[in-house]
Amino acid sequence: MKIGRLNHIGIAVPSIVAAWKTYKNLYGLAQSDITPIGEMPSQGVRFSFINLENSQIELIEPLGDNSPISKFLVKNPNGGQHHVCFEVADIYSARDDLVAKGATVLGEPRIGAHGTLVIFVHPKDTNGVLIELMETLERH
Ligand code: CO
Repeated sequence: MKIGRLNHIGIAVPSIVAAWKTYKNLYGLAQSDITPIGEMPSQGVRFSFINLENSQIELIEPLGDNSPISKFLVKNPNGGQHHVCFEVADIYSARDDLVAKGATVLGEPRIGAHGTLVIFVHPKDTNGVLIELMETLERH
């Protein structure tokens, strides 16, 4: 297994709509650079992607009472960098490879915000940064 492209950087925020304003007011982006808010109830998040020339920012906001993002926002009330996502060719072989190397993979592969399978690797094994791996999107 070898990681490929940086797909996105995840930033947890108390309000996606408020965070959009940051990227529009400070950084010159338009609403057309930003995807509509989506929801993943099973993972307790709402999300929206900000499209950059070479990558994306994923804004994530808590959804529901037991959202993992809620705990993060208790520690980081204004929001903060939550994870970094790299692409891999095959999520199951990546998972098996990481587990064999002793890394802590959080949960089973599941469908992420881009509609492909994702896993998360515990920050304790990755220099303090939560790592998301996602299967590469088809690029045409
Ligand atoms: Co993500």
